[in-house]
Amino acid sequence: MLDKLMQKFKELYGADGELRTYFAPGRVNLIGEHTDYNGGHVFPCALTLGTYAAVRSRNDRVLRFYSMNFDSFGVVETSLDDLVPNKEASWTNYPKGVMWAFEKRGMKLSHGLDIAIYGDIPNGSGLSSSASLEVLTGVILKDIFGFEQVSMAEIALIGQDAENNYNGCNCGIMDQFASAMGKKDHAVFLDTNTLNYEYAPVKLPDAKIIITNSRVKHSLVDSAYNDRRNECETALRELQEVVNIHSLGELSEEEYEEHKGAIKDAVRQKRAKHAVYENQRTIRAVGALKANDITLFGQLMNASHISLKDDYEVSCEEIDILVDLAWKTEGVIGSRITGGGFGGCTVSIVKNEAVDTFVNEIGEAYFEKVGHRAEFYVVDIGDGAGRLS
Ligand code: GLA
Repeated sequence: MLDKLMQKFKELYGADGELRTYFAPGRVNLIGEHTDYNGGHVFPCALTLGTYAAVRSRNDRVLRFYSMNFDSFGVVETSLDDLVPNKEASWTNYPKGVMWAFEKRGMKLSHGLDIAIYGDIPNGSGLSSSASLEVLTGVILKDIFGFEQVSMAEIALIGQDAENNYNGCNCGIMDQFASAMGKKDHAVFLDTNTLNYEYAPVKLPDAKIIITNSRVKHSLVDSAYNDRRNECETALRELQEVVNIHSLGELSEEEYEEHKGAIKDAVRQKRAKHAVYENQRTIRAVGALKANDITLFGQLMNASHISLKDDYEVSCEEIDILVDLAWKTEGVIGSRITGGGFGGCTVSIVKNEAVDTFVNEIGEAYFEKVGHRAEFYVVDIGDGAGRLS
């Protein structure tokens, strides 16, 4: 693929000068959903799917962007003096947002760039194609402009800043962190309150991690995401009247039950309950994985789904169909919705001998019920972002 990208680059921008290439992965979250903006824990891993870039420096202030995934936009030309969001320029707002966030931190970009992009994360699937594009841009800027002081964790934070304040989605840190900090064959156990993290090996000799893409994306996504976040912030303020905490992630289940009466609305109580219980589930799940208790890990994934469906209400009919089918399939250790919700993907752990049945039978049953086909990917856990050549 890289060859095709470089060929395309030369075709569009000419062949002279030094060409550098980079990659940043997408992610799948194993457990710990909607906890990252509540000061809780998450447990994502980087995929081998992601976004590639070929880049060359220019000696003026012009920026040229091209994506093989958005070929119809052609080459989008702008300048370092025009780093403002522009609806029509669609996908280029992600790299531009990261440039804006670097400059905001005093890291001035001294010259323009020619950039060509290709990504193999299915669009709109909830596997963080936008976070991967942000982290990719961060890695490019660090390398090309020699910002050696910028750590990979800082690149994740810059990506989140760009997403929050340039692109208007109030996301947490999980996606960018997984893309920047991922490690082959490991998941990242991240405490979003402190940004302390630990790599946990994901060794599953008898099973595979399978992502199932429902291929639906409900239009609610961004607004409902921001609503959930606001509901949790209000619930936190109400709880702070009776208990000394800075985030929902600081509460145990027992403490939540003791104090939940301070939350004055039944819906907000459910949202906060999910945030608290999901955080504790995540901590427990990582313990189970370390103890090789994959059965318990699977049960906690299932419980996560029920909580996301009933208390957090971020699932949807198509995703529930996929999860129900998975739960009924022999050899499935656990299955849940993954990512922001309202469509996107499920993540399942499936015994090796059941993988074919899983893909074929669930594939057929989903098609019959929903009228379009799901897509299945057996996960390979890859490394975080970096320069390729
Ligand atoms: C999206 C956001 C993340 C996280 C998840 C839900 O992917 O970008 O920050 O909140 O949803 O866990």
